[in-house]
Amino acid sequence: MKKVSIFVVLACLLVSCESTNYVPPVTSQMATARKGQHAGLPMLREGRTLFVHRCIECHTLPVLWRYSTEDWPAIVDSMSHRASLKPAEREAIVAYILAVRTRRD
Ligand code: HEC
Repeated sequence: MKKVSIFVVLACLLVSCESTNYVPPVTSQMATARKGQHAGLPMLREGRTLFVHRCIECHTLPVLWRYSTEDWPAIVDSMSHRASLKPAEREAIVAYILAVRTRRD
């Protein structure tokens, strides 16, 4: 009985992580999704890596869908000194987040 309830709790945790805090891998579609933007695949990949590693140092990884595409650049700006991001790193993170959001919107 005890084992079963532990399993249920674990399963719920896994499922909720998957659905609310999914950080999708970069696809070539993302690189072409935003017209007029010049974020290539390498930049998007770097942005994802930076996001996953640097934005989790002080709090849980922010949920991409929680903030709008208009809000994200300002959020990353305000966090960039905390995460000690170089300007290019900040740009890569914003590019990745916007590419994910554009693909889904
Ligand atoms: C050195 C610690 C630190 C790092 C690194 C950091 N943050 Fe934060 N973050 C905070 C603190 C502290 C808060 C809560 C206080 C605040 O909002 O100013 C916060 C709040 C947030 C919020 C909630 C803001 C809101 O208005 O609800 C988001 C989103 C966020 N961070 C995103 C990021 C992203 C994206 C990165 C990576 C670029 C990042 N953080 C890296 C310390 C950090």
